[in-house]
Amino acid sequence: MISLATAASRSFPAEFLFGAATAAFQIEGASTTDGRTDSIWDTFCRVPGAVINADDGSQACDHYHRYRDDVALMADLGLQSYRFSTSWARVQPDGAALNPAGLDFYSRLVDELLTKGIRPWLTLYHWDLPQTIEETGGWRHRDTAYRFRDYAMAVYEQLGDRVEAWTTLNEPWCAAFVGHLAGAHAPGDNDPVAALAAAHHLLLGHGLTAQALREANPELDLGITLNLTVAKPADPDRPGDVDAARRIDGQMNRIFLDPLFRGSYPADVLADVAGLGLDEVVADGDLAIISTPLDFLGVNYYHGERVSDEAPTEPMPTEAPTSRPTRSPFPAAEVYSHSQQLPTTAMGWEIQPDGLRELLVRIHADYAEPAEVQLFVTENGAAFDDQVNQDGSVADAERLAFLRAHLAAVLDAIEEGVPVHGYFYWSLMDNFEWAWGYAKRFGIVHVDYPTQRRTVKDSGLAYAQVIAARSL
Ligand code: FCB
Repeated sequence: MISLATAASRSFPAEFLFGAATAAFQIEGASTTDGRTDSIWDTFCRVPGAVINADDGSQACDHYHRYRDDVALMADLGLQSYRFSTSWARVQPDGAALNPAGLDFYSRLVDELLTKGIRPWLTLYHWDLPQTIEETGGWRHRDTAYRFRDYAMAVYEQLGDRVEAWTTLNEPWCAAFVGHLAGAHAPGDNDPVAALAAAHHLLLGHGLTAQALREANPELDLGITLNLTVAKPADPDRPGDVDAARRIDGQMNRIFLDPLFRGSYPADVLADVAGLGLDEVVADGDLAIISTPLDFLGVNYYHGERVSDEAPTEPMPTEAPTSRPTRSPFPAAEVYSHSQQLPTTAMGWEIQPDGLRELLVRIHADYAEPAEVQLFVTENGAAFDDQVNQDGSVADAERLAFLRAHLAAVLDAIEEGVPVHGYFYWSLMDNFEWAWGYAKRFGIVHVDYPTQRRTVKDSGLAYAQVIAARSL
């Protein structure tokens, strides 16, 4: 038994929310059940070489059928909140008429959570666009923003009486740039013009939805989740490295933060991407819609990076080693990550907990505080190669250390005056890790896919203790 009640234990604020996160496509399975049709991820999984081992989401964690047991597990862990996403292709198959059977799944899930005293934290889009909408242009096309709002309001009609926390999008950077430029995610394009149009239309869809939800119920907690990075020049004295860090910050962080919180795209980013069509897709009035005031910002943090305009001697792998052509996700940056000589997770991501503190301090000062927006860490976690032992335990000491170190970084930020309101570990359970398929395990709960047996890992037991003690 790990004792956390040491003399030096540090407490979390009374209202701090502890949770865990998942996403529809990564856990639900039941991909053709009760009327659900393909999303772009179902299609992408069928593209030869796109996903390791040709894995797909047809079964995943079978959460669609096992949600009651999974919610019971969350209650056992003492989770106060559960962050999940709704599948657009389940709610509106083919992006068309409402599917009451699909929507009812989320209604039952929400009821189950509320019965157990767990706060539902709902995300409307975690990358699974209906395939038919992709075929009419997807996020490259302005109309998709309006269709997203209509889908969102259909979900709200059904769940708005019970769900208070509404997140429009998860990580629009990945949806736009990893999906349409790097080509490592669905829909798998390698086109900077498409990626920038997608980024703008995702933001527009967010803004339209935030407006509509606000109008429907001014009491809702509205927000968006962004994946943000801390980019440092590999050599602060080399102008090329300083500019590489600026470009990464611009094309990953500020390209979303500035429109959302300041109502404009950053001038340096506009200059970098000039000629790639962004100006042409921004219509009058869009930025006013996109900057609709929010209640919270969800921050997803996995690692920071040291960057340069020169390639390192040892390349740092960033994407799954699939056999389709992929390229850099940055539309206007010839940049390379250099090792910081830190230990890495099974994804090859460097373990850099202090980057989370630094990020929270910066985002609070530059964006959240002036806008009076609450900050939550909506994803943070690590993949390691876990084994279930003979005695049924999963001794994931590295993940446990990762979790504690990042919770400590959140406490450090709070001590520096950043009012962080909650933390969601990614992920509640092992699941479909996009282009990596089932090869990477992020869960605090192990999933044995052939039997669907769930086993709480040591990290999950430790997290339950932290939550119970409300201290580290
Ligand atoms: C984030 C995604 C999430 C998961 C983690 C590891 O970028 O939002 O779905 O894949 O990475």
